[in-house]
Amino acid sequence: MLGCTLRTKLPERASLGLSSKIFTSRPSNTEGLFFAQMIVKSPENTKEWDSYYWLRWEILRKPWNQPIGSERDKLDEHLDSFHAMAVDDFNKVMGVARLHLVTPGNRAQIRFMAVNTQNQAKGIGKLLIQYLENVAKQNNVKEIILQARENAVGFYIKEGYQVIEKSFVLYNQIQHYLMLKTL
Ligand SMILES: CC(C)(COP(=O)(O)OP(=O)(O)OC[C@H]1O[C@@H](n2cnc3c(N)ncnc32)[C@H](O)[C@@H]1OP(=O)(O)O)[C@@H](O)C(=O)NCCC(=O)NCCS
Repeated sequence: MLGCTLRTKLPERASLGLSSKIFTSRPSNTEGLFFAQMIVKSPENTKEWDSYYWLRWEILRKPWNQPIGSERDKLDEHLDSFHAMAVDDFNKVMGVARLHLVTPGNRAQIRFMAVNTQNQAKGIGKLLIQYLENVAKQNNVKEIILQARENAVGFYIKEGYQVIEKSFVLYNQIQHYLMLKTL
């Protein structure tokens, strides 16, 4: 879909090794199926891009009755954007996130971080953020900022981000906080 000026030494399909939680947890609603392997990579074809954006919409837009398409922004196809998706053994998308460089270049922003509801709290968000932080470091990024939804602030704090300030309210409901991590 797009080229990418962001450099990455990670292989296309970087298996980051799984937290033990992913191996040991067995979601009750998957009728006995559980994932033995989780891979973080960039979407590679139309089907994967569709799944990537679908999960973004389903988790971050649909609950607020936002239309399909509202999950995208103009930076999605920008060369300085890097997209990551966590997939299971069956190539099912479990989580998504995006990193884009912010001018003047030693700063990047993470946006659109979403893990599917039934697989939250199993270490997938952590894998995604660590993956994007590695990409950022390889591109000489010195700090990452993000706008955290109030419900996710605790997650980002665990990953080493600090709250800078209360920022905006989305859809008249979701308070956001500007957060920052120095790499
Ligand atoms: C927020 C989100 C991305 C976190 O991903 P996740 O896969 O559920 O989180 P992980 O399992 O990787 O959690 C990593 C650590 O953060 C903790 N954590 C996760 N979510 C948390 C939360 N909301 N508050 C506090 N701590 C949290 C976990 O307990 C875990 O701690 P540990 O390492 O001590 O065990 C995910 O829950 C999600 O998609 N939520 C809905 C959409 C959303 O709010 N996205 C963020 C937009 S800014």
